[in-house]
Amino acid sequence: MSLLITGGTGYIGSHTVVELQTLVSEQTPSQDIIIVDDLSNSSTVVLDRVKQITNKTVTFIKADVCDYNAINAIFDQYDIDAVIHFAGHKAVGESNEKPLSYYHNNVSGTVTLLQVMAEHNVKKLVFSSSATVYGDNVSPLNESMPTSATNPYGQTKLMVEHILFDLAKSDSEWSIACLRYFNPIGAHSSGLIGENPNGIPNNLLPYVAQVAVGRLAQLQVFGDDYDTVDGTGVRDYIHVVDLAQGHVKALQNLDKISGCKAINLGTGNGTSVLEIVNTFKEISGQDIPYKIAPRRAGDLATVYANADLANELLGWQATRNLYTMIEDTWRWQSENPQGF
Ligand code: NAD
Ligand code: WQD
Repeated sequence: MSLLITGGTGYIGSHTVVELQTLVSEQTPSQDIIIVDDLSNSSTVVLDRVKQITNKTVTFIKADVCDYNAINAIFDQYDIDAVIHFAGHKAVGESNEKPLSYYHNNVSGTVTLLQVMAEHNVKKLVFSSSATVYGDNVSPLNESMPTSATNPYGQTKLMVEHILFDLAKSDSEWSIACLRYFNPIGAHSSGLIGENPNGIPNNLLPYVAQVAVGRLAQLQVFGDDYDTVDGTGVRDYIHVVDLAQGHVKALQNLDKISGCKAINLGTGNGTSVLEIVNTFKEISGQDIPYKIAPRRAGDLATVYANADLANELLGWQATRNLYTMIEDTWRWQSENPQGF
């Protein structure tokens, strides 16, 4: 039996592959892992690094999930019984500029994958959704709240969630975990894999890390007049290895999920931008110059999870604290200043 991982050379995918190869093989006979990625936002160097960490190899196929024939050929060739679907574009700002590219890649790509899965009778799926589907609900955010989206990226996640719920309703054989991630940060403790954004980072942690390592001059803090502990935005940062382990748990518990279930993966704690900057400064010993800038359009003051359902359904909770998250981010960034 094989497990297909789309987007497996990306940030969250690569950490999940490592956890699958270590945790799963300790507990159950390991499944063969097949990664499909079009390398639009990642590099094959990741595969060497994963091998260094795990001492195991994976099958890698360069393909686009929107390409029906390529994906169909993979399902014809391998005995796949479940899929973790990470592949997608993820930059909110870019999605406003290139909405068609986002709808095509994230929505059409998922529909193509689901079509091939259905035709091969593979009906177990773990999907990368996002806390962005909660729109402007007030935190703590729980899975029964109404969903909405404010940008094309968020719309693609919401549309795919609706597609998955409809699919599961139409055919009770599907088991789907729709994991709503909060803010993944950190890196593997080896310092060998981590987040490697193209160009100027959009997200806070890679930006701060690149300022600390001297690649960028100064952080802009988007707003200091929110109703929060120090006026800056508060988010639920979660260690990428905790997140990866959440995927292992989701996969192991898919049989218990009938239909499609949305599940938050967060810590339940909020941290402000300035708390991040100060902790990063302390851990790295580097200066992190910043200036207060206007609020960023579309940002909310406070976003954090109610993480109870993941504990109840999957027996999972995050275990790594902010200190570890930043320590691991810094190790990765300082040992790989230019990324992969
Ligand atoms: P990433 O860009 O590092 O990884 C995504 C991978 O998918 C990349 O390796 C890219 O090359 C690949 N890919 C993109 N389009 C593809 C296609 N059509 N066919 C094949 N491969 C394709 O991003 P990530 O941070 O690892 O995110 C993984 C998933 O989690 C994405 O779906 C993202 O939307 C979702 N997510 C991410 C975050 C976050 O903050 N990182 C938060 C919530 C949800
Ligand atoms: C965090 C905080 C910013 C950059 C985004 C997506 C979301 C999900 C995760 C995919 C906020 C502040 C940031 C900077 C700053 N991705 N900030 N200066 O916006 O919570 O979530 O990534 O699904 O959909 O929207 O994360 O890291 O961009 O911002 O002050 O240069 O840091 O205002 O308060 P966000 P982020």
